[in-house]
Amino acid sequence: METKIITIRENHIDGSRLQEAGDIIRRGGLVAFPTETVYGLGADALNREAACKIYEAKGRPSDNPLIIHICRWEDIYSVVSQVPQEAEKIARAFWPGPLTMILPKSQQVPYETTGGLETVAIRMPSHQIAAKLIDLAGGYIAAPSANTSGKPSPTLAKHVITDMRGRIDMIIDGGDVGIGLESTIIDLTVTPPQILRPGYVTRDMLERVLGTMIMDGAVTADNMEETPKAPGMKYRHYAPRGEITIVRGKPEKVVAYINREAARESHKGEKVGIISTAEDLKLYRADSVKNIGSREAEADIARHLYRILREFDDEEVTKIYSEAFEDAGLGQAIMNRLLKAAGHRIVQL
Ligand code: TXA
Ligand code: MG
Repeated sequence: METKIITIRENHIDGSRLQEAGDIIRRGGLVAFPTETVYGLGADALNREAACKIYEAKGRPSDNPLIIHICRWEDIYSVVSQVPQEAEKIARAFWPGPLTMILPKSQQVPYETTGGLETVAIRMPSHQIAAKLIDLAGGYIAAPSANTSGKPSPTLAKHVITDMRGRIDMIIDGGDVGIGLESTIIDLTVTPPQILRPGYVTRDMLERVLGTMIMDGAVTADNMEETPKAPGMKYRHYAPRGEITIVRGKPEKVVAYINREAARESHKGEKVGIISTAEDLKLYRADSVKNIGSREAEADIARHLYRILREFDDEEVTKIYSEAFEDAGLGQAIMNRLLKAAGHRIVQL
């Protein structure tokens, strides 16, 4: 299949070119598009054959449900059978934005979209290209992240091109995404509500709106013994080809440990990559040392993580060492993704 690649910028949206993308989705095709979190791979959420094509293009297990993206609050009533007050409160506080709610699905939503579940995930993205595309495509776009299953989510169009060229109808290059980690997922079908995937909207921010809630125990566990409730969170995901080890402890000890291990692995013929904060960058010695951003700027760390993991793949790095990050606020989402990428391999000093 020939994949058409078009460039559109969020601050200057060419409606007629986006219309072409909307028409592809209306006809049952696949279009990758930017959102504020990561690039999504979109299809008509109410068309079962179109939803099936997403699984095929990504090589994704079909029990892993998709998120339906909408662009108007009222549209929630078509895809959700019962909209609780909590959903309205959450939407008022965080929509449009990087927050996904799990609610009971309506009959209109095919099981192909929900991976066979009676519940459905809904999000209203704030990215202007995404919002306009959803409208032009008929209002309901099912979209997982636009990566091959198991690879880090795409934060640049070139990541989508690497993974999806030849497999889908169109890729919209909208430049760099702003956040760089997937949306927070909150399950509103249980009491109290439960966070299934941490993200840019933090637990504190959600609790200020809805009161105390629970974090799925598998989210921050240092091991893989707990089974997460969001089906997609159980896969070793977000992972580069090189083996990652996270090292946690006092900064001086972490630097010394990583340098020692890097030298040892290098000696054995491995190509070594290091994920360093800006503060420690000059202290490391390895084949490839990446600056993920300052410890003082967690949003930068979130935005750079997946790009760096993909760069290590391009450089054919075989062993990766990463500093650990603060396990609260946005740091919780960063550590959750990093732990999954590392297959939970963490060294505590
Ligand atoms: O930021 C995002 O959410 C991005 C952009 C493109 O919007 N999308 C995204 O989709 O991350 P995906 O498919 O990569 O991740 C969706 C996650 C999976 O872990 C899936 O299992 C979970 O949401 N999920 C979807 N529907 C669910 C449901 N009904 N119950 C529990 N988990 C669900
Ligand atoms: Mg994904």
